Amino acid sequence: MIEELLKQMTLKEKIGQLAKLSPYFLIEELEKEAAGPIKELNLDTEKIFSIGSILGVRNAEEMIKIQERYLKRSRLKIPLLFMGDVIHGFKTIFPVPLAIASSFDPETARTIARVSAREANVSGLHLTFSPMADFVRDPRWGRVVESFGESKYLLGEFAKAMVEGYQEEQQGGERLGACVKHFACYGASEGGRDYNTVDVSRVWLHNYYLSGYREAVKAKTKAIMTAFTLFEGVPCTINRYLLRSVLREDWGFEGVTISDYDSLQETIKHGVSLNQEDAAKNGIAAGLDIEMASVCYLNHLEKLVKSGEVKIELIDEAVLRILKLKEDLGLFADPYRGASPKKEKEYLMHPDHLAKSEAVARDAIVLMKNNGVLPLRKNAKLALIGPFVTNRLTNGPWSWHGYNDENNSLADVFIKNNRQMTLAKSGSDLNDYTPEDLQALKAADIIILYLGEDRKLSGEAHSLTNISLPDGQVRLYQLARKLDKPTVVILQNGRPMVLEDILDCDAIMETWFLGSRSSEAIHQTLVGENNPSGKLPMSFPANIGQIPVYHDHLLTGRPVTDPENPGEYESRYLDQENNPRFKFAHGLSYSTFSVTDLRLDKDEMEKDDQIQLKVRITNHGPYPGKETILLFLTDHFARISLPVIELKQSQKIFLKTGETREVEFTITLDDTMYYLGDGSRVYDKGDFTVHVGTNMENLLNAKFRLI
Ligand code: BGC
Repeated sequence: MIEELLKQMTLKEKIGQLAKLSPYFLIEELEKEAAGPIKELNLDTEKIFSIGSILGVRNAEEMIKIQERYLKRSRLKIPLLFMGDVIHGFKTIFPVPLAIASSFDPETARTIARVSAREANVSGLHLTFSPMADFVRDPRWGRVVESFGESKYLLGEFAKAMVEGYQEEQQGGERLGACVKHFACYGASEGGRDYNTVDVSRVWLHNYYLSGYREAVKAKTKAIMTAFTLFEGVPCTINRYLLRSVLREDWGFEGVTISDYDSLQETIKHGVSLNQEDAAKNGIAAGLDIEMASVCYLNHLEKLVKSGEVKIELIDEAVLRILKLKEDLGLFADPYRGASPKKEKEYLMHPDHLAKSEAVARDAIVLMKNNGVLPLRKNAKLALIGPFVTNRLTNGPWSWHGYNDENNSLADVFIKNNRQMTLAKSGSDLNDYTPEDLQALKAADIIILYLGEDRKLSGEAHSLTNISLPDGQVRLYQLARKLDKPTVVILQNGRPMVLEDILDCDAIMETWFLGSRSSEAIHQTLVGENNPSGKLPMSFPANIGQIPVYHDHLLTGRPVTDPENPGEYESRYLDQENNPRFKFAHGLSYSTFSVTDLRLDKDEMEKDDQIQLKVRITNHGPYPGKETILLFLTDHFARISLPVIELKQSQKIFLKTGETREVEFTITLDDTMYYLGDGSRVYDKGDFTVHVGTNMENLLNAKFRLI
């Protein structure tokens, strides 16, 4: 059917399909004015009413109105496709992606994607710009909050689960197309500065940076968004190696490619396209199907085709993919598919959705330090201070469909639960507190400081060079320490931070941005109704100079052999040890778990063979709880240098107090494979060490040989 449709389309109609604009352009009142941005962009109503997709609508009513107006004018009645950023929830907001990854359980991502798809689809959206599968290693980059952290294994698992969760059809028929982003290597922006230069080798590209997008493509993501940044000097949006060789030829991707916001036009600023016309030519030649926000295609492709500079086949191939996407998403059958003001009332912020958000939030909390002060004693008198105590803005970055007003602050939840409090007051520095407040602090048994970053300090275009706590917050902390009371720090932040100023506190609880039910989940964890099970998906550096610091670094010819007594000509700093302050996968529980009795069923494996690995895990109490068992590998000899240790598999399980379980893993050739710079996937025979444990310390080891 779509092939037939393509034949009927004029060149103008085809080019229209490649354009995506904001709904603003199709709203009646503005059209009459035909001024402002419409004029600036050199658009007319014919062009506007030929476009193929829309970026962002607020609700079903708005979508229906726009679709109706558009279809009235559309000769071939090709429906508009509505896309938007649904990143960690639509109205019901879930923890931010970095927090989702802290759960170390990809099933949480699937839950989030399903609820998001339900809510967003009834509100008129068909495709979301999620998941962000950028591989990250630099906490200065504001967008690490949108990422799944530094492990390529976790990244791949979470990206896959998100794509499947969005795209799976639900009972009411709801689903969303996924658009994985930002292809490729956006997370490698130099110095963590957003939009900055990227220089990544092909070996690192294939082994690390592509991992997340590759899994999303395998999970059949409908679309992929290009990065603002460069690969080998060429902007990703017009990069033929990435868009044609890797994506189409190697991976067989048949879905749609979309530029990032204005990123086709920005190839001019990169100095790689001469002007808009050249950008249009470069984009279509590279295989970029949809141009977001800028209008190089809309204003220049017609002329380029007519002059023979761009072959019509290139346009047809892109249009066909877009029509196929619309067909797949059910838009030809029903241009309003999903949108329902009635269902919006029923679904949005449904109690079941909020309960799911709370459950994920509980699983995402990472207990980083605890000398026994947590869980809080039942009748302890508490004082709550710091900038976020009475704050309801817990949704975090990239949650603009959600509203914070219905969230509870931590103080609200403490009051509701009748906790004894001598003080619960927000303040960022000493002078926000009065002498009476000081008296109230002195009267408390335990001081809880709710510290960290404002939600505006992470996300796109929010990079930082200083990732320590602000001075005012440190002064508050020092005041609390001076009072000689047990001190608990709750952190809210969108990135790993340098925490040197608060290391001597009694407990640190990392909560990131937990969404609609943040305060409930934090309270439950503080009082022991939830046993924390989250782990850090990124290393926390001891200082800025250590960055990048991550667990799966490569071998060096001069490693530090004895950290207590390092040699002179070894790979190290003179003023700081190599280990981060808090390692990847660090996270405590209120229980003690032990992992024992590691067994492999054989110590040699042929290429088509597999090894069964078994290990016992015990919860020694005193609480029931979840724990994650991690399986790392070290490959001792390969054609290229590989990481000293690399996470390959994990399992999160629940254990009652005193319970022991046997956990099984299967090691196959797949776990031993890696990529060469030309993109081929290979393995080498030889020795491997497998390491199993619940964090990076005290791992049990066994050896096997691939023969
Ligand atoms: C961001 C994308 C986002 C797009 C549309 C861009 O600025 O980089 O991640 O999907 O805007 O909102």
